[in-house]
Amino acid sequence: MGCKVLIGTQWGDEGKAKLIDYFSKKVDIVARYQGGPNAGHTVVVNGKKYIFHLLPSGILHKNTKCVIGNGVVLDPDTLISEIKEVEKDGYDVRNNLFISDAAHLIISYHRAIDGAMEETSKEKIGTTKRGIGPCYSDKCLRIGIRVGDIFDDKYLDSRLKETLHAKNMQLSRIFSMPELDMKAIKKNLEDFRDQIKGMVINTQHYLHKAIEQNKVILLEGAQGTALDIDHGTYPFVTSSNPTIGGALMGTGLNAFCVDEVIGITKAYVTRVGEGPFPTEETGEIGEQLRTKGAEFGSTTGRPRRCGWFDIELLKHAKRINGLSNIALTKLDVLTGMPKIKVATGYTMEGKQIDYFPTGKIDKVKPIYKELDGWDQDITKCKSFNDLPKNAKSYVTFLEEHMGLKASIISVGPDRECTIVR
Ligand code: IMP
Repeated sequence: MGCKVLIGTQWGDEGKAKLIDYFSKKVDIVARYQGGPNAGHTVVVNGKKYIFHLLPSGILHKNTKCVIGNGVVLDPDTLISEIKEVEKDGYDVRNNLFISDAAHLIISYHRAIDGAMEETSKEKIGTTKRGIGPCYSDKCLRIGIRVGDIFDDKYLDSRLKETLHAKNMQLSRIFSMPELDMKAIKKNLEDFRDQIKGMVINTQHYLHKAIEQNKVILLEGAQGTALDIDHGTYPFVTSSNPTIGGALMGTGLNAFCVDEVIGITKAYVTRVGEGPFPTEETGEIGEQLRTKGAEFGSTTGRPRRCGWFDIELLKHAKRINGLSNIALTKLDVLTGMPKIKVATGYTMEGKQIDYFPTGKIDKVKPIYKELDGWDQDITKCKSFNDLPKNAKSYVTFLEEHMGLKASIISVGPDRECTIVR
């Protein structure tokens, strides 16, 4: 009963969507709680690949309801094209999807400003340029436009007029970019309104009702703990809270509703965009992981930076999120590596430290332990005992150092390639 939360424990791209899809058949509702179209959640079903930027990854299960929570920032065009894509394959989105009336909308000026800031700033974040930061800042400035607002013409008109005036000044005077046209934005929002009519509700109320009726809810995090605006490697982070606090804030559920927090954890580490990454491998090993793991951003196509497993990062994720256990993903990508390194701790300024210093992570040096690899194909393994000896030792080594059990081990992209312990 109650609710499970699936949270990325690293810098995103941990393979959350496959696990969410896996859990979806066992739950009544899947809800996204933060982030927006910066996410790219890949689900492979019967060999067909879907990349969801906004739709909850449970949408491919016909008996599962899906919710886009109040903490999400929503790009109308992205959502509509995703809905159409899935409907084309026969999935019933309109009866299964509920959108929060309090979710904020990404408008064309958010994308324009995100792009312009990335182009012109000296210290680039390497954002996805999807308008995420500017949209969340408008939310905090209390000048945002929410899904519910587009159903009130008069209110929308006055809000848009005032905001667009300020945005156009910013675009033209600061970034020397063309001003945006109110009519075009309004028309786009009106079209969107017509398409989502009937799906917009107070999702906080809906989710609480579901809890009262003993329904099982899965909260789907986007990005990961180290990209959290408060608990990540600021300023090289996203503009939301992918961690447990964000799961509650972005749905309206409370801490007592949650009964399990599962940390989705890749068997090695990747990061896309700028920012420090202590265990990064920039040479041949990094390249090998990237190629074998197909480590290219599903939203931007950018090559992901790759490196070794980092225990301190995982302990940080465990503390911040109160992890119950982890799901270890992409173990198969390590097959064929003669030696596998794990950072078991850090030194900073010559001294060993026992935490993940979010603000000074560029100053740490990893302490490595080297383990023997394995050559055997593991994609057909159905139980932990089917794994080769060295793969089992690798998993056990990580578990002992993190103090967390890997309850699920993913050994390939398909639904079937999943070991449940
Ligand atoms: P933004 O979220 O587009 O503002 O980008 C901020 C940082 O978060 C950049 O380093 C992005 O590459 C990173 N980021 C955003 N979304 C994801 C994701 O879904 N996976 C991995 N990194 C992400």
